[in-house]
Amino acid sequence: MRVVFLAPIYPPEMIEYTRGLAEVGAQVYGVGDTPREALPARVKPYLHDYLQVPRIMDEEDVMDRVTAWLRGKSIDRVLANWEPLVILAARLRERWGMPGMSVDAVTGFRDKQLMKERVAAAGLRVPKSRRARTEKETRAAAEELGYPLIVKPIAGAGSADTYKCENAAELDETLVKMRGVGEASCEEYIEGEEFTFDTVSIAGKPAYENVAQYLPKPLEMRSLQWVSPVIITVRDMTQAKIQGGITLGRKVLTALGMGDGFTHMEWFLTPKGEAIFGEIGCRPGGAHIVDQMNYTSDIDLFREWARVAVHGRFEADARRKYNVGIVFKRALGEGRITRIDGLNEWLHMCGDSVVEEKLLRPGAPRRNWKHTLLSDGHVLVRHPDWATAHRMSFAAATDIRMFAG
Ligand SMILES: Nc1ncnc2c1ncn2[C@@H]1O[C@H](COP(=O)(O)OP(=O)(O)OP(=O)(O)O)[C@@H](O)[C@H]1O
Ligand SMILES: [Mg+2]
Repeated sequence: MRVVFLAPIYPPEMIEYTRGLAEVGAQVYGVGDTPREALPARVKPYLHDYLQVPRIMDEEDVMDRVTAWLRGKSIDRVLANWEPLVILAARLRERWGMPGMSVDAVTGFRDKQLMKERVAAAGLRVPKSRRARTEKETRAAAEELGYPLIVKPIAGAGSADTYKCENAAELDETLVKMRGVGEASCEEYIEGEEFTFDTVSIAGKPAYENVAQYLPKPLEMRSLQWVSPVIITVRDMTQAKIQGGITLGRKVLTALGMGDGFTHMEWFLTPKGEAIFGEIGCRPGGAHIVDQMNYTSDIDLFREWARVAVHGRFEADARRKYNVGIVFKRALGEGRITRIDGLNEWLHMCGDSVVEEKLLRPGAPRRNWKHTLLSDGHVLVRHPDWATAHRMSFAAATDIRMFAG
């Protein structure tokens, strides 16, 4: 089985999917813009061959180069797990007449307005929204939808350029910040808690499901530097509170014509208990959520995804053993990390429940918390009991303190 895998080393967790593909028996043809000489040694055993392209985002150019490179070989799959490349993978599949999701289906997972229209057309609850190409259209949408209002790019990621506006004056400020963003989605603001619904699906039906809770919601994680973002996978998927979201998620997959592979959906639970769609991608979530899911059941979803993508089978025993919390830390101050307080006490308190501690060490430069949720490192902790996992996670959020200067 020959598989073209786009961006096999970027973002770094893609190396794990490359490994998974090789482990289930695929010959992996990697395509990326990293020079061949710069490929990390640990990915090399898993790559059958590799093509360096000058610009991985230049779809026409990449399609021409990959087509020329593989001329005469029969290819069985074209795959991508990184959001900016899912359309390119679909375009290559269409060009070569291969199985897999069409450009139209993938576009439904990429274009935030279109996805909401398709999900709403299936009778599911989405935030009211309008597509806006100009400032005038944005103001008109605000008139119609009222405040508070969310304004965000149509094809965004990482909550970049997502703004909440409480009134017309705030909308004016937001319009200035949004200059340069081509098209925006204006949405009714949904009050409530925010969760994920993640799957590995086969022909649009989940072979694997996961729910995780964001604490606080991503918009606040992104806008308040003092917050240590916490995300906890939910061990008990049968509890009443999240059934609405799980049912919604499954229906969304059908509405959007999901095929094989990972999905990552975000949804809101309103104070009245209603589950409302947020957004979805046909790729795994970022920020280590796949690691969290793996720790939840002690499985390897990198490989299991590959088995699904290549052989159409999911074989892991995905019984859920733990609630797994990840806590991202942000140092106080700028420049380089100087000190970490409270870490030893926290490690001692949590004992065996800690599965990873990857905080940046003194001397390391701070990461840009606006650009990456990974911030200045993370800890991962797990426990079968939700309240305990929650308490340990929040202890890390408040009691571990990092400083920079
Ligand atoms: N209609 C809405 N009502 C309330 N909050 C919203 C709404 N739309 C977006 N948000 C908040 O903004 C965050 C970012 O929005 P969204 O997920 O659409 O953008 P994104 O850039 O793709 O995010 P990411 O890549 O971080 O998932 C959401 O997780 C949520 O916290
Ligand atoms: Mg999002």
